[in-house]
Amino acid sequence: MRMDPVNLYDYEARARKVLPHNYWEFIEAGAMDEMVTARNRSAFEELTLRPRFMRDTTERKIATTVLGTDISFPVMISPTDAHSNAHPDAECATVRGAGMSNTLMMCSTNSNCSMEEIAEAATGPLWFQLSHRSYDLTENLVKRAEAAGYGAIVLTIDAPFPSPKERDIRNRYERPGEYGNFREQQKRWSETNGAHEPPVWEMQPGPPITWRELEWLRSLTGLRLVLKGLRVAEDARMAVEHGVNGILVSTHGGRRFDSTMSSIEMVPEIVAATSGKVEVYVDSGVRRGSDVLKALALGATAVSVGRPLYWGLAVNGAEGVHHMLEILREEFNRAMAYCGQSSVDHLEGRLLNIPREWGPFRTENDIADHLPFAPYGRHHIPRRHIGIPPAAGIAK
Ligand SMILES: Cc1cc2nc3c(=O)[nH]c(=O)nc-3n(C[C@H](O)[C@H](O)[C@H](O)COP(=O)(O)O)c2cc1C
Repeated sequence: MRMDPVNLYDYEARARKVLPHNYWEFIEAGAMDEMVTARNRSAFEELTLRPRFMRDTTERKIATTVLGTDISFPVMISPTDAHSNAHPDAECATVRGAGMSNTLMMCSTNSNCSMEEIAEAATGPLWFQLSHRSYDLTENLVKRAEAAGYGAIVLTIDAPFPSPKERDIRNRYERPGEYGNFREQQKRWSETNGAHEPPVWEMQPGPPITWRELEWLRSLTGLRLVLKGLRVAEDARMAVEHGVNGILVSTHGGRRFDSTMSSIEMVPEIVAATSGKVEVYVDSGVRRGSDVLKALALGATAVSVGRPLYWGLAVNGAEGVHHMLEILREEFNRAMAYCGQSSVDHLEGRLLNIPREWGPFRTENDIADHLPFAPYGRHHIPRRHIGIPPAAGIAK
């Protein structure tokens, strides 16, 4: 008898068997030497947990909120394009799976289904991921997202230069399906330029996205604003100054640019720099429920997953996405119980052993934060985030 996948890696292995090679490689690939993609995983593995026993954890609260929206556990779906790489129903299947797990899906600008079709199929909350390709297109997308009931705009900031992946070049990868959000524009484009011309927003470098564009964007919409791809304290402080509501710390799954740190390594720096003024989320490399606990113990509000949604989708459509999420939920519950935790609201840095090599960080708290508190290293998370009293004799 064939067993259901037991963990996310089982889903990955099965997806590999059912997907055409070029689609499979498109999903899995990272930029250049794929060092960041690998580091996104190894960094989670370097962080170890400090289990706590002899506590009653039979009742566990794992539901949480993101920008005031309820989700049943702190795992969301990252925005990714062209879900028809994995399933003919594309994003409309993914959103059903996310809804079955009562969690939030972020929908890509470059989805195959339109944002309105996804909203129609959704039973859970949605945020719209925005790629800024032109002022007109951005205004059109943002207004439509607001009208379709999306709760926030997630502006992707870490793609300032076109960066085709080497595996995709070798495979002559061609994106399947249409650009659901640009049917009107594509029609006009085809009429003017011939049916086989590439759509302008995909192939040409977009206009720059700077802090000035952010102010303009805010003037277009009352929706909350999340910046996706932000990685360092300096930018995080700018985000706070510009009234951003959330930061999704992300390396884009290592797909855009190589030779940076992993996402999870940057979370402490971003949490420290934003001092609780914005919510911090993280994606890239989350594959286990224990990774979720690690991210939250470092100060994140929630995590999200990218590649695993395609794996679930490829293996079993909406049900596969749902089951993939339920595996993470069960693993997260297990990690909570083994760490003696009964509420997602009280996870602290002291649940972790943090590698010494992860510091020092460039935050204004550099000196005061480098106090020892974990048995295997020093860590810089300010005490206001982890609830540890200042060490004797050291002014904070
Ligand atoms: C196939 C694929 C397509 C993606 N497309 C987008 C996109 O359209 N917009 C975006 O902001 N991020 C995109 N991402 C990045 C994801 O939002 C997310 O940051 C990344 O997948 C997280 O890493 P993980 O795959 O290790 O979970 C894409 C990722 C993958 C794997």
